[in-house]
Amino acid sequence: MREQITFLGIETSCDETAAAVIRENKNGTADILSNVVSSQIAEHEKFGGVVPELAARAHLENIEFIIDKSLKDAKINLNEIDGIAATAGPGLIVCLTVGLNIGKSIAAFSKKPFIGVNHLEGHALSPGLENKIEFPYLLLLISGGHTQYLIVKDVNQYEQLGTTIDDALGEAFDKTAKMLNLGFPGGPNVEKFSKLGDKNYFKLPEPIINKAGCNLSFAGLKTAVLRESKKINGDEKMKYNLAASFQNTINKILFKKTKVAIEIFKEKTKKKEVRLIVAGGVAANKSIRENLSNLAKEMNCKTIYPDLKFCGDNAAMIAWAGIKRFNKDLIDKIDISAKSRWPLDSTAPYMKGPGLKLD
Ligand code: KG4
Ligand code: ZN
Repeated sequence: MREQITFLGIETSCDETAAAVIRENKNGTADILSNVVSSQIAEHEKFGGVVPELAARAHLENIEFIIDKSLKDAKINLNEIDGIAATAGPGLIVCLTVGLNIGKSIAAFSKKPFIGVNHLEGHALSPGLENKIEFPYLLLLISGGHTQYLIVKDVNQYEQLGTTIDDALGEAFDKTAKMLNLGFPGGPNVEKFSKLGDKNYFKLPEPIINKAGCNLSFAGLKTAVLRESKKINGDEKMKYNLAASFQNTINKILFKKTKVAIEIFKEKTKKKEVRLIVAGGVAANKSIRENLSNLAKEMNCKTIYPDLKFCGDNAAMIAWAGIKRFNKDLIDKIDISAKSRWPLDSTAPYMKGPGLKLD
C-alpha cells in the first residue's frame, strides 16, 4: 500500500465553503495539515434557512480564498499533493457545482488524480480521521438532509438498515427552532435553550416507535410542536419547556430505534462486538451523545463520535474519503457530474411518498 498520501479536499454541498489538506499517517489515521471552514450563517440568518442561490454565490466568492488558505495553513505546495477530492453529491446542485468544478480544474491542470466524493461517505468515514476503526461498524448518520442506520462494511460498501420516512433529524431540529423563534442555525439553539426548560413538561408523539424496524419518522412530532407552540403564545419559559420536551422525545426515539438497529446489526454481521458510530451535524448534540452512550453501555457496545469540528460539514472528511478511495483505486474520471440524490446503499428501498407500507 502507498504511504503518507496527502489530499486536498473541497466541500460546497450546502452552506459551508470548506477546504482541507489531510495526510494519512503511519497509524492509519489522519494528520490534519489544515481544515478551513467558512460558514454562511450571516447570509442565511435573516431567511431562517439556507437559500440555495445565495449559498452558491457565497461559495463562488469564497472558494478560491478558502482553497488558497488551506494550502498556506498546511505550508504545502500543490505539487506535493497526491490528489484532489471534492464533494460531488448529494446536495444542492448549484452549490455542489462550485466546489466540484474548481476541484476538477485543479486536478486537470496539475495532472493529479481526482475523486468525486459522496458527502455521506465523508460523514460515514469521518471518525477514522482520529480513530483507527475496523470494519464493519454500525453508523447512525444524522445530518440536515439525512437520517440513516447503515452497516459500514468497508470503503464504498454500505448496507442501509433504516432511514427516515419523512424529515431528516437536523431538519426537525431546524424547524422546531423556527417554530419557537429560537434563531438560526436551529439545531445548536434548540440544544442550548433546552437546558433552560423542563424536558418532561410536554408529552409529544413518538411516531412509528414500535414498528417499521429501525426506520424513523419525525413529521408527527413536528406537527405536535407546531400545535403546542401556537398555544403558548410566545411565553419564554414555555418555549424552553417545549424545546426541551422536543429534544427529550428525539432522545427517546433514538434510544429505541438504535437498540433495534444494534440488534439487526448483530444478526446480520454475526458480530458480538458492536461499534456504534454517530456522525453528521446532529452528532454534535451533547444530550444525544449522552443518551446513545447510555444505550451503548446497556447493550455492551462501544460508541465513537467524531470531534465536534468534524461533525458539521467540513472538507477534512472529504479529503479523508478521497484518500481512502484512492487507496482502493476508486479514482474518478474528470467528467464526473454533480448529483442531487446519491444514496450510499443503492439497493435500499426509497422510503418516502404515498403508498409506503410499514410493519
Ligand atoms: O452535517 P451537517 O453540517 O450538514 C448536512 O450535511 O446536512 O448537518 C447540519 C444539521 C443542521 O440541521 C443543524 O441544525 C444540525 O445539523 N445540528 C444540530 C446541532 N448542531 C448542528 N442539531 C442538534 N443539535 C446540535 N448541537
Ligand atoms: Zn453534512
